Amino acid sequence: MNERTVVAQALSQALSDYLTLEEILNLLENPKTTQHGDVAFPVFSLAKVLRKAPQAIAADLVADIPDEAFEKVEVVGPYINFFLDKGQVSHATLTEIAEKGSDFGKNNTGQNQQVPIDMSSPNIAKPMSMGHLRSTVIGNSLAEIMNKNGYQSIRINHLGDWGTQFGKLMVAYKKWGSEEAVKKAPIQELLRLYVKFHEDAETDATLEVEGRAWFKKLEDGDEEATALWEWFRDESLKEFQHVYDLLKISFDSYNGEAFYNDKMQPVIDLLQEKNLLISSQGADIVDLEKYDLNPALIRKSDGATLYITRDLAAALYRKENYNFAQALYVVGNEQSGHFKQLKAVLNELGFEWANDIHHIPFGLITKDGKKLSTRKGKIVLLEEVLNEAIGLAKAQIEAKNPDLANKEEVAHQVGVGAVIFHDLKNDRLNNFDFSLEEVVRFEGETGPYVQYTHTRCASILRKANFEMEAGANYSLNDPESWEVIKLLQAFPATVARAGDKYEPSIIAKHAIQLAQAFNKYYAHVKILNEDSDLSSRLALVHAVKIVLKEDLRLLGLEAPEEM
Ligand code: ARG
Repeated sequence: MNERTVVAQALSQALSDYLTLEEILNLLENPKTTQHGDVAFPVFSLAKVLRKAPQAIAADLVADIPDEAFEKVEVVGPYINFFLDKGQVSHATLTEIAEKGSDFGKNNTGQNQQVPIDMSSPNIAKPMSMGHLRSTVIGNSLAEIMNKNGYQSIRINHLGDWGTQFGKLMVAYKKWGSEEAVKKAPIQELLRLYVKFHEDAETDATLEVEGRAWFKKLEDGDEEATALWEWFRDESLKEFQHVYDLLKISFDSYNGEAFYNDKMQPVIDLLQEKNLLISSQGADIVDLEKYDLNPALIRKSDGATLYITRDLAAALYRKENYNFAQALYVVGNEQSGHFKQLKAVLNELGFEWANDIHHIPFGLITKDGKKLSTRKGKIVLLEEVLNEAIGLAKAQIEAKNPDLANKEEVAHQVGVGAVIFHDLKNDRLNNFDFSLEEVVRFEGETGPYVQYTHTRCASILRKANFEMEAGANYSLNDPESWEVIKLLQAFPATVARAGDKYEPSIIAKHAIQLAQAFNKYYAHVKILNEDSDLSSRLALVHAVKIVLKEDLRLLGLEAPEEM
């Protein structure tokens, strides 16, 4: 039970005629300084109802508050300040965490309803960008956070594996490509072919025509076109898979744009039925002027469908298959117009569940303030970035703990974890600068710092050979441990807030705060001192270890026992 609930319950008896428990909870505040206690209740909100001076109300209320749970209850101005009984609260918190283990902080808000999360979604035959990396790690963390809030997440990789560019690629491959070259470095070679196509097409108009013809073949199920498409897709996926393996992230579905190729007609029929489709210069569009949006282009004059047509089909498919409570799309901020259009069209179609669709945008990764991306065919290969991070982690482990048994594995957990944590620790909409040295540091607000704190807990517990005992008393009364206890207690509410706001950084910040508070505790208190509080302090270490590990897991990081 958290501190606010303790206070709300203590007040609820006396206030039952005026406020519900829920309302009391919403009124409670956390004082800025510890001098004003742990939780404060502002009395002025009652002054009108009771037609009495706040001071008098406060005095009356305090007389009615059961005092077992509190060290003291004070009236200061129009506030009642509650000082919780540290001993009781610490005992309750530490035993609850030990009992629940990794389930601590879980709630059932989602009631097991499904939440498809559209994430990663790179484009076939193109390199995976830093933006796709962000989408992958934010999406993965949100999946864990939603699960912890009682939902069932479904990770969907909505691959960009359809569209006119595949026709162009086929033309380029047949003219200038070879099987060996594609096999050797699929994405680089396919990118080269694609770039060459566009260069040559500037002076040779027949290329575009051929490209369209090949895409038409593909859409009509032509054997050769389909075989080429499948091959390009497989080769690209194999390369993407290296990145996913390094991140240890997997998907429940790889249904990309191509999957909806035969599922668009019903959407178009529906739009027609509702008289929403209007023809404009031979193309079919949905007018969205009343939403202050550009029209949605549904079908081009040559009959070809578009990105949004496939997304409409995908949304309908997801509703039908998952009956989702919410559907999330973790896609860069630059596509916010697209998702506004998508929701608007679904709304025009009369689907109330259009409101359950949420675009989860995020900012750019920059290098010295500039967008990091495809520079003149020179691409930042994610696989290289991750491998370099692993290398840097390895060097630090080599220097700090050369005898560590499973160095390779830990270097992987730390290096990749560092990159993920760096991505998630800031509000997702912020742009951030990326420098590997900055990311893989064991100090500061980094993933390795949190992981290191977790290993510190593990090492203390190993040394003490500690196990929790049923029925034992684990109360702590000192102000140093209190700071840590409060952060442990805050974890369930933190999980709920991160889910409400779709914001992994809320978890990352909690992890950093808890790690910092614990390290301060560690610096000030001799944990292993043989006195009567020894087992309570160890119980605290035990609880910190559990919660840090959960924080890390929710972000997609592993928590090594030693590093
Ligand atoms: N493939 C797209 C891109 O790289 C992202 C797809 C996002 N998902 C979606 N359902 N539209 O820009």
